[in-house]
Amino acid sequence: MTQSVPHTINEMKNKLKEIIKKIIPKKIVEIIRDARNSYNTTKRRGRVGGFDVLSIYNGHFNVKYRGVPALKCPFDYVLYQMILSELTPDLVIEIGTSEGGTALYIADLMDIIGHGVVHTIDKDKRASQLTSKHPRIKLFSEGWEKYDISVAKDFPKIMVIDDASHNNTDVLESLKKFSPIVSVGSYFIVEDGIVTRIEREKSLQGGPLKAVHDFVKNNQDFKIDRKYCDFFGKNATFNPDGYLKRIK
Ligand SMILES: C[S@@+](CC[C@H](N)C(=O)[O-])C[C@H]1O[C@@H](n2cnc3c(N)ncnc32)[C@H](O)[C@@H]1O
Repeated sequence: MTQSVPHTINEMKNKLKEIIKKIIPKKIVEIIRDARNSYNTTKRRGRVGGFDVLSIYNGHFNVKYRGVPALKCPFDYVLYQMILSELTPDLVIEIGTSEGGTALYIADLMDIIGHGVVHTIDKDKRASQLTSKHPRIKLFSEGWEKYDISVAKDFPKIMVIDDASHNNTDVLESLKKFSPIVSVGSYFIVEDGIVTRIEREKSLQGGPLKAVHDFVKNNQDFKIDRKYCDFFGKNATFNPDGYLKRIK
């Protein structure tokens, strides 16, 4: 029997495929094909750059604003500045200052907008000089439990951010204490429900996401604002279901 000799590149490719089919078991060919398809799908979805929720989560611990650690997801930075310019709040209460990068970011944005002050609360005194000296920032260092909400009574438009312990009970308690002073149309932002997505919520007794769900179940004054939660894709934020808008 005479073998036909391939002349063109395509003929050679087909010949090669025939040989491969003969020498490699069918199952292995299927595995290779599946892997190639899966790689192509991943590439189309843009994940081939080697980042995912966990790598962004790890990276956010090193984020700084004007040299001050500001532990926030990049997507949420963008959403925060949009909310601030849309809302122009008179007062933002941030629960959980740490070194104060986020308080500083908010206060600088308020400078640009020309309006508003920040009350930032921690139980430690770790705020940077830039934060503590900013004319729009007032520091409270005895924990949110001791913050007297009557100091906020003269501010018509109030927004609250809980970025403190992320412990489920604490978040629920802070929601109970601070939600009544959030103005209608404004936000209570519950930070870091992302811990559920990376399976770290057990040590936080269910964490912020569970607290949000329990809170909205029993409170008709707030709704989860999908506009901001889903801005970059379904809950593409470190605050999944955490942008709570006061509606009445
Ligand atoms: C995740 S860090 C805050 C990060 C900060 N908001 C930022 O964006 O850079 C959490 C902070 O909450 C503070 N914290 C914990 N329990 C608190 C409480 N009961 N009252 C106020 N702050 C508290 C911790 O001391 C810590 O500094």
